[in-house]
Amino acid sequence: MDARPIGVFDSGLGGLTCVKRLMDVMPGEDIIYLGDTGRVPYGGRSRETIIRYARQDIAFLRSFDIKAVVAACGTVSTNGLEEIAGDYPIPVFGVADAAARAAAKATKNGRIGLIGTRASIRSSAYDEKILKLLPSARIFKKACPLFVPLVEEGRVGEDDRVLRLVAEGYLTPLRDAGVDTLILGCTHYPLIAGTVAAVMGPDVRLIDTGAETAEMLRRTLAGSDALSDRARGRCCYYVTDSAEDFGRAASLFLDSHVEGDVRRVTLEEKI
Ligand code: DGL
Repeated sequence: MDARPIGVFDSGLGGLTCVKRLMDVMPGEDIIYLGDTGRVPYGGRSRETIIRYARQDIAFLRSFDIKAVVAACGTVSTNGLEEIAGDYPIPVFGVADAAARAAAKATKNGRIGLIGTRASIRSSAYDEKILKLLPSARIFKKACPLFVPLVEEGRVGEDDRVLRLVAEGYLTPLRDAGVDTLILGCTHYPLIAGTVAAVMGPDVRLIDTGAETAEMLRRTLAGSDALSDRARGRCCYYVTDSAEDFGRAASLFLDSHVEGDVRRVTLEEKI
């Protein structure tokens, strides 16, 4: 049994879709969430900058006595996280491993789509992970940089015409390529899964990276007897920009009111 909290971070709000899944599968865990809202988005930045930001985010979370870190950000998970994970004495998880595994398992025709930020699509992390599991797979990728700002603006409804138009522009080539499985490679995207599904059609299986990662983490912690034995855990939120704005928008991602404190912090930038 290990009652210490799990540290979770993202560039902003998207990682909360993963927090929701963590709470669903491990309701007894305490979670400390950091949203680097002052520097969102990470998805258009260079790999070097993303790694530097990730180090600063992890250093902040480690100022608490946490038992594991989850980079609930597709961009960080595909841009150097594995290089730096070994520098820490606690396990550091990204969201790409579990999602790649789920996609390789789900596909019937071997044609897998991946959507994400520019940095995630530029990286070959998913290609390598999927091809290791399924060498015959073909991976079709599309950067969708307009999705994150649309989600952050709350334009997530299936009846939102702007979202639908943007989604058709991005997703039609993937649909035409005949993918039967689509990885939502950015933790913001579960909020627009309805529109993505409507464009892709009913036969395409969508992979939610946060959901897959939460289940993988539960199994890993259970395997090393490191789950908490609490009935219900607490979640504390830290942000690098306005705490009020975060509280308001976060309820959309968590699908419930943000319970617990939201505090604004300044990250150590010399790391
Ligand atoms: N949530 C981030 C991700 O999963 C996207 C936002 C960003 O570009 O920072 O990639």
